[in-house]
Amino acid sequence: MTLRPGLVAQAIAPLLIALVGAGSASGSDIVSTPFRVRPYLQNPAADAMTVRWFSDANAAGTLTCDGRTFTSSPVLSRDLDYQMTEPAGMQHASPPFLHSVRITGLKPATSYPYSVEQSGETAKAVLTTAPEPGEVGRGGGVRLFFYADAKARPDSRQSRAMWPASPSLPGGPRPRWVGDRYLVEETTAYRTNLALIASRAAESLRAGNPVLCSIVGDLVESGGEQRHWDEFWRHNAGEFGTLASRVPIVAVMGEHDIFGGPQSDDRLRDLGGYTTPVTLLASRKFLTYFEHPENGASDERHIGRYHRLDFGPVTLLSLDTTNGGSDSGADDTNHFLDRQAATHIPDYTPGSEQHDWLKRELEAARARGRVVFVQFHHAPFSGGMHGRNPGRGDGKDPHSGQPLRSLAGLFKEHGVTAVFCGHDEMYEHSFADGVHYYTVGIGGDALSPPDAGHVNDRQIFVAHDHAAERWRGDVLESGGKHYGHVEVEVSRRENGPGFTVSITPVYLFPVLNPEKPGEVLDWERRTYDDVLALEAVPLSPADAEPATEPVTATDASPSTKDP
Ligand SMILES: [Fe+2]
Repeated sequence: MTLRPGLVAQAIAPLLIALVGAGSASGSDIVSTPFRVRPYLQNPAADAMTVRWFSDANAAGTLTCDGRTFTSSPVLSRDLDYQMTEPAGMQHASPPFLHSVRITGLKPATSYPYSVEQSGETAKAVLTTAPEPGEVGRGGGVRLFFYADAKARPDSRQSRAMWPASPSLPGGPRPRWVGDRYLVEETTAYRTNLALIASRAAESLRAGNPVLCSIVGDLVESGGEQRHWDEFWRHNAGEFGTLASRVPIVAVMGEHDIFGGPQSDDRLRDLGGYTTPVTLLASRKFLTYFEHPENGASDERHIGRYHRLDFGPVTLLSLDTTNGGSDSGADDTNHFLDRQAATHIPDYTPGSEQHDWLKRELEAARARGRVVFVQFHHAPFSGGMHGRNPGRGDGKDPHSGQPLRSLAGLFKEHGVTAVFCGHDEMYEHSFADGVHYYTVGIGGDALSPPDAGHVNDRQIFVAHDHAAERWRGDVLESGGKHYGHVEVEVSRRENGPGFTVSITPVYLFPVLNPEKPGEVLDWERRTYDDVLALEAVPLSPADAEPATEPVTATDASPSTKDP
């Protein structure tokens, strides 16, 4: 399917503007506008939505929606200041002011135009509330998008990712000019990916189905470097694109989001690595930007780091796995970070508060008859380098996702439909103990191949091996691993209680100019040959009744089965 001309225009024209006019990674990057970050949507509910934005000035803005006008209370966000080692040309003069307005009393699954006026500039968009829990949009469903590993940073404008060749089909291998680098820079890839999501979201909204976009960690390269967050928001609510003004985004942290930046013996270049102060700073930056539903954590620093979002028929449970387990043990997901010192990061292992929360939420979701998705950054089953055994040294990985396999039994027991992860920059689908696991680390950074050192024996599909490249001369005709995301549709079943679920891996296919090797003329939306269709059906018809509160039934688990 070729992207509609409108989308192509969206994807390409702003890109040209950006490359010409958005500054460079080495020069000044600062655009003076009343909006440091343009308005974006958070924490969607059936009757409410939060609109946030950031300004340079300490001045109230106004939000108009649903015939009402709200005046914001600007809050200075000191955590969004720069480390002194960040390049001066990429620094705003002072930290920005946060404006956050929660609009309540809205109708479910309903679209509302809104506008935000800030210091003489006006931004307009349309928000759409979630369906009531257990219900669907007037089009019969909802649509969710998942991707990970955007790893936004200004340097991405000049960086083309390594692109190790997939197996080639008869017709010819890669032409020599391709080399081992991808066809466009990472910034182009990320913004085109978001443009495609925006197009598909608009289509879904026109059909009456609310939308949600989830980022499964590693939003930025270094969470401690403010210029990386600036770049992330240029893509999502800024000069590169405004997807988040129309589609609420929800996020979990990856290890890059808590990474201060490269360490150095030179004090003037040291960004702190995984030392506790910078992981705390980086975490606070993330938590300043995102408003997530309350999780009841006893340590207030853990609020917003794991959460439950009800979105119509879907319950989405998000976990923080950035430093779980015993320090430097086989269950440790970060061998560079001292567990005892970094208590601002919640553990996820049995006996921890987050684990207890997860168990309670899984039980409640199954009692409600919901389609349950779980997301966290570290993929438990991966053929990439993060699928290695945990540890440091040859053949091991200090950020291994293997420890997360300890949760697989819980997911199976509670009828989880699918688990979405990132971490390895691949599209990979695994199946273990009745649960589907997806790695969607193809948001906009690297395009890694499987790791040669080990085998993921739960793997069903991995783009590198299972989408062979077919070249005709200088033009790629099909296959290969590319940037993209996963699109999930959940719709009410036509014949009986429960829901249908389709999970589609989407990638951006570059249409190359046969007359000019390497020139990308256009992008097509294509899907890998790994589309999954499921039915999530409550075990008894009574369980299909929507319930807003958990009930105590223990046999009400939705069973997920292949049709
Ligand atoms: Fe990661």
